[in-house]
Amino acid sequence: MNPTVAPSILAADFANLQDAIEMINESDADYIHVDIMDGVFVPNISLGLPVVEAIHRHARKPLDVHLMITDPDKYLAIFQQAGASHLTVHYEACTHLHRSIQTIKDLGCKAGVALNPHTPVKLLEDIIREVDIVLLMSVNPGFGGQQFIENTFKKVNALSRLIVETGSHARIEIDGGVSMENAAKLFNAGANILVAGNFVFSSKNPAETIKKLKNIV
Ligand code: DX5
Ligand code: ZN
Repeated sequence: MNPTVAPSILAADFANLQDAIEMINESDADYIHVDIMDGVFVPNISLGLPVVEAIHRHARKPLDVHLMITDPDKYLAIFQQAGASHLTVHYEACTHLHRSIQTIKDLGCKAGVALNPHTPVKLLEDIIREVDIVLLMSVNPGFGGQQFIENTFKKVNALSRLIVETGSHARIEIDGGVSMENAAKLFNAGANILVAGNFVFSSKNPAETIKKLKNIV
């Protein structure tokens, strides 16, 4: 089994988004990771619904939409209509996480929950069987191009154990600072989905970099 690879469009040239999407379409990538930031939950604003719709019009890969926003419940259906097939909300942003996850599944999307670097994996004990994806932030959310936080390895191990213990089907997604330096170790520890922004888009040949990540095993 190879990892699922999700290039993060946040690191693309927004003046040439169509080129970036075509590159991903033609590549070995599995998903397109789309980061939504509201300037409240995270100290940055990224892109909004019209851009997600535009990406969706050209994309031939599922959109893995990562909502770094407060009160995401208000926008779940809207993002699904805009083209999201995976919707991930933050544990720290959801008072009624169980309801948010149910809503995402009722919309026909894969449901993900994201944890900030300081949020312990054990808090997922009573929701882990409901989710399709757990996204571990391996940087503080808000910006691309940051340094990978090494404690993430410990969290991947703890999460892998929790998944086995609870009989959950959740997959583990790693987001932030992913590169060739940590990808194999993450995959071997149980991470199945690797998001990569700068590592892909700053490389000379992004499609080739995606292929390398895909064939990390
Ligand atoms: C950070 C975002 C990430 C980001 C990853 O808040 O959630 O998806 O785009 O970018 P890199 O791979 O450059 O750290
Ligand atoms: Zn992300």
